[in-house]
Amino acid sequence: MDRLKRLFSKKNKAKAPREHSSRSFANVWWSVPQSDDTKVCVVMVGLPARGKSLIAGKALRYLAWVGIPARIFNVGTYRRQDTPQPNATFFDPRNPEGERMRRAAAEAAVSDMLRWFKQEDGIVAILDATNSTQDRRRWIHERCLAAGVETLFVESICDDEELIMNNILEVKTTSPDYKGQDPEVAAQDFRNRIRNYEMAYETIGGSEKSYTYVKLINVSSTVIINQIKDYLSSRLVYYIQNLHIKPRSIWLSRHGESEFNLTGKIGGDSMLSERGQAYSRALPGLLKKSGVPPNTKIVIWTSTLRRTIQTAKPLEQETGFEKLEWKALDELDSGVCDGLTYEEIAKMYPDDFIARDEDKYNYRYRGGESYRDVVIRLEPIIMELERSENVIIVTHQAVLRCIYSYFLNVPQEKSPWMEVPLHTLIKLTPRAYGTEEQRFKADIPAVSTWRAKGTSAKHQEFPTGATAAH
Ligand code: SIN
Repeated sequence: MDRLKRLFSKKNKAKAPREHSSRSFANVWWSVPQSDDTKVCVVMVGLPARGKSLIAGKALRYLAWVGIPARIFNVGTYRRQDTPQPNATFFDPRNPEGERMRRAAAEAAVSDMLRWFKQEDGIVAILDATNSTQDRRRWIHERCLAAGVETLFVESICDDEELIMNNILEVKTTSPDYKGQDPEVAAQDFRNRIRNYEMAYETIGGSEKSYTYVKLINVSSTVIINQIKDYLSSRLVYYIQNLHIKPRSIWLSRHGESEFNLTGKIGGDSMLSERGQAYSRALPGLLKKSGVPPNTKIVIWTSTLRRTIQTAKPLEQETGFEKLEWKALDELDSGVCDGLTYEEIAKMYPDDFIARDEDKYNYRYRGGESYRDVVIRLEPIIMELERSENVIIVTHQAVLRCIYSYFLNVPQEKSPWMEVPLHTLIKLTPRAYGTEEQRFKADIPAVSTWRAKGTSAKHQEFPTGATAAH
């Protein structure tokens, strides 16, 4: 069995080889069998300040989220070991010493990368560098080929001055190359560095027609895709071509407190409690309080379950925002445990209860789903979110944990244990190097549905007006 297939099926099979709901397999596109043990080196290509590191960072986060061992090898980091703060002349193609040292840094990065593939079972490496000449790219391609690693070249071309200026601003304020330097001097030096790279830069083409590559022109305004040969590369290309850098926010909220929440039952399709209804009426105000620029269009996404639709109703009515219902946003399917309390589950299925605590991410409810299953079915949601601008998602605890983990890079073993209280709006704002998070709590009490590892936790009542802190 190939490694990708194992990644998505082995643990689930070992833990729960029982019955499966049809929903568990509805969207299992990541577990489509591979014909071989594909390993991919994503080779970034582009002049400095073209957003390469941003794309590399996002792709890494996405791969970690779907559970694919991935790592970035940044040539600049290797170069800095010998030449921490060079000025622009170091990058002049007519400077033989600079050229030799840059080549040495690239060799060290590629050697480490190939060692990682071999010794640490890596699947996707991202070689983050300018890789700006055909010679350099041929050399990388040949080294990878000899090691049985596919190459996927991702070239970022940008002639939008505003985008470039924003990137220069980012680099001069965040790059260790300019740490402690006058920002204006740093910006000028960086512009000179770009000019030096431009002298030698060759866009992908000509003799490279047989390579697998994607060219992104002005982020994703135009995308050229060439010779995609394997499933993993096609998923990566699909992800990368959906990325955009327009400013936007994503708001996440659980549904208001439900009748099932009051009795501690999980799953089901119950309606909101009175306090849950109060939260639904408070949600438009909470959203406004979170800071929405005038004339901002926001799309509301809910699951197909009544408690999320009911929660979003007043928001939909007050704002006139478009609303979409997604089956993929339905709560984790708890199979035979649907409608039970945790105490009942602990009594009726004691082994399962312990197994779930031991490995909550991979544990699949009998006839239901695991967190891993939920991540797989959420993958199209993440793709759509990357394509979209402002979205408010009203969904369920487990689903929200998975979406939040994607944006905040929460490791798989931690995400199922995260606390996401009821009656709280989470605002996520993607920034160049990470996601900014703000939380807004409605002053409407609700039970706490958070369960600590090793407890059967009866759901707890918040004191009126207070919020939970576990
Ligand atoms: C660097 O030295 O900062 C990057 C080298 C390169 O990608 O050309």
